[in-house]
Amino acid sequence: MQILVTGGAGFIGSHLCEELDKNHSIRIIDNLSSAKKENVSKSIEMVEADIKSKEEIEPHFEDLDTVFHFAANPKVNTFPGDRDKDFEENLQGTKNMLDACVENNVGEIVFASSSVVYGEETKIPTPEDANLDPISMYGATKAGGEHMCKVYSRIFGIDLTIVRLANIVGGRNRKGGIYDFIHKLKENPEELEILGNGKQRKSYLHVEDTVEGLVKAWKSDRTVFNIGSKDSIDVDGIAEIVSEEMNLDPDLSYTGGEKGWEGDVPEMRLDISKLENEGWKPERNSGESVRKTVKELLKQ
Ligand SMILES: NC(=O)c1ccc[n+]([C@@H]2O[C@H](COP(=O)([O-])OP(=O)(O)OC[C@H]3O[C@@H](n4cnc5c(N)ncnc54)[C@H](O)[C@@H]3O)[C@@H](O)[C@H]2O)c1
Repeated sequence: MQILVTGGAGFIGSHLCEELDKNHSIRIIDNLSSAKKENVSKSIEMVEADIKSKEEIEPHFEDLDTVFHFAANPKVNTFPGDRDKDFEENLQGTKNMLDACVENNVGEIVFASSSVVYGEETKIPTPEDANLDPISMYGATKAGGEHMCKVYSRIFGIDLTIVRLANIVGGRNRKGGIYDFIHKLKENPEELEILGNGKQRKSYLHVEDTVEGLVKAWKSDRTVFNIGSKDSIDVDGIAEIVSEEMNLDPDLSYTGGEKGWEGDVPEMRLDISKLENEGWKPERNSGESVRKTVKELLKQ
């Protein structure tokens, strides 16, 4: 199959491309805004283009079977400092991708959504049929992206898979709590400042398990899947693992409050039984995913 992965040079996208490249022909569209060219293997066609411009991306949608849409502003806390970025990258960018698919008769899309679409007033573990009630602009644009994909799927007959990802961690990820803690402790091994009260509790999944889940979800006949680990870990637990792996014993300080930032969801754990019923099972729990990630990031 000929597959296009937008955002394929990024953290999750590059790991996904390595797996898909074993059996398929892969093209990447990426503007390299948060990725490195070195993440992309030489056997993969790399197009440097921006999903915010339909004219730039459309010529590269010819003769495709499937598009995995992973290009986005992946940062959950850009808003309200920047009120345009989530909208432009995640909504306009997704619409441009959808129009390019229609104009080139692409038959299948896999859309990277997020656990944050469920918001904070939701059942834990959260099943796929829970209400979408995002509390951040990032979450709102991911929910909007899902809805646009569903409308295009219905009207233009495109097969659609939506994957709602928990916190995905692993080597090459240069954002998020684990990366920040390592960075802060390298600067000052004596102290570690934690955003919030350290009790925010979320599900973390290593990217290797994630990629297996993505492929399983794509190959299934069903539309929406949660992908995460079965358990969760709090921020204090992550700080403990990072400190242990770096052989440090820093004093912890807290910025306070239940949330790390405006729009943070203090607790997240997804019901993953739907994808488990398709035969996928994550190998690692949250703590194991975090520990493996710390080791990988320290080696880089
Ligand atoms: N990492 C997570 O925990 C997580 C959780 C839920 C959902 N997601 C989603 O998964 C996808 C991948 O996230 P990631 O963690 O690998 O982040 P990432 O930043 O490593 O990957 C995003 C990629 O998209 C590219 N990109 C960004 N804007 C672009 C544009 N305008 N045009 C072309 N390319 C552009 C970046 O250069 C990067 O390679 C995103 O859609 C993100 O919202 C990630």
